[in-house]
Amino acid sequence: VFSNVVQAPEDPILGVTVAYNKDTSPLKLNLGVGAYRTEEGKPLVLNVVRKAEQHLVNDSSRVKEYLPIVGLADFNKLSAKLILGDDSPAIRENRVTTVQCLSGTGSLRVGGEFLARHYHERTIYLPKPTWGNHIKVFNLAGLTVKNYSYYDPSTRGLNFQGLLEDLGSAPPGAIILLHACAHNPTGVDPTPQQWEQIRHLMRSRSLLPFFDSAYQGFASGSLDQDAQPVRMFVADGGECLIAQSYAKNMGLYGERVGALSIVCKASDVASRVESQLKLVIRPMYSNPPIHGASIVATILKDSNLYQEWTVELKAMADRIITMRQKLFDALREKGTPGDWSHIIKQIGMFTFTGLNSEQVAFMTKEYHIYMTSDGRISMAGLSSRTVPHLADAIHSAVTR
Ligand code: LMR
Repeated sequence: VFSNVVQAPEDPILGVTVAYNKDTSPLKLNLGVGAYRTEEGKPLVLNVVRKAEQHLVNDSSRVKEYLPIVGLADFNKLSAKLILGDDSPAIRENRVTTVQCLSGTGSLRVGGEFLARHYHERTIYLPKPTWGNHIKVFNLAGLTVKNYSYYDPSTRGLNFQGLLEDLGSAPPGAIILLHACAHNPTGVDPTPQQWEQIRHLMRSRSLLPFFDSAYQGFASGSLDQDAQPVRMFVADGGECLIAQSYAKNMGLYGERVGALSIVCKASDVASRVESQLKLVIRPMYSNPPIHGASIVATILKDSNLYQEWTVELKAMADRIITMRQKLFDALREKGTPGDWSHIIKQIGMFTFTGLNSEQVAFMTKEYHIYMTSDGRISMAGLSSRTVPHLADAIHSAVTR
């Protein structure tokens, strides 16, 4: 009965890892998926995560019962505080509902399905380009996906004029997906002043912000600073949705831990919204897993562990910045044609190199360097040892 099923293509991002795993060359380098690696090229489990896990193991009162549909209560409360701030009036006024979801993707999907059922405008605008999975997540959630201008290839920076024009002509009420910080894949973020203009325009046209916050702490190294765009929108008293992921900033990739918050205008609205979120979640996966959320809650509620986390997070962010400088210096030393200053200007985990898909294919074939075909490289996968190899590959790709 399944003989007519056709072979599906690999995922454009996760498929890069599949291809990398098949390569037997000792030179191979995976700069595809956004996953942090140490200077030795190894995955990193944060010390603070190990400590939190130890606490959990030592606590014999812990059981493996089902969590409520909305997840672990402490985790939800602390996640909302992490993104909105300790003194957020929206939290104080009980206008925020937060539900634990399966990392960023799951939070986006639950939020998308809720909007498709209960929000009057079913069109969502995504920045162009955006994380490839956004398009699929929101389409399958039942929303119509359109895009707004974001990146300018000629400056390798923000097309701010185009962004304002496109948001200005979106239908009133449309949903606008915003990357809270460290835009994926471009590494290009609006300045605080530009954010303020975006906020003003969106509020004046009743556009609904849906933030994807997958890199809090990775852009500037400061959790509070990276949350500023979100807090700016919440401070004006209006509504928004926020999807949070702990994959990158706590290195909890495989634990699939994240949260969806919906900021409402009044507490009774927030509690009705939560009741509907439960109806979305229950038939989808019933209730979320307990372990990852317990790790996060343990860290967020203990001031010593929290402090340790911020230090480890900053160290990851700083190592990425060092890699940017090293790659930029290596290309300059080689005299590689072109202006590569965007490597040090862009922020977060990724550099959007400007290399085209043929150049990427060449680098994979000749240098065993794996990256997405749009020219994005995960700086977090690079180390001092592998920078020269990448610089050689880029040099050959652009001069051949
Ligand atoms: C990425 O963009 O590489 C990450 O967000 C991982 C993923 O799931 O695509």
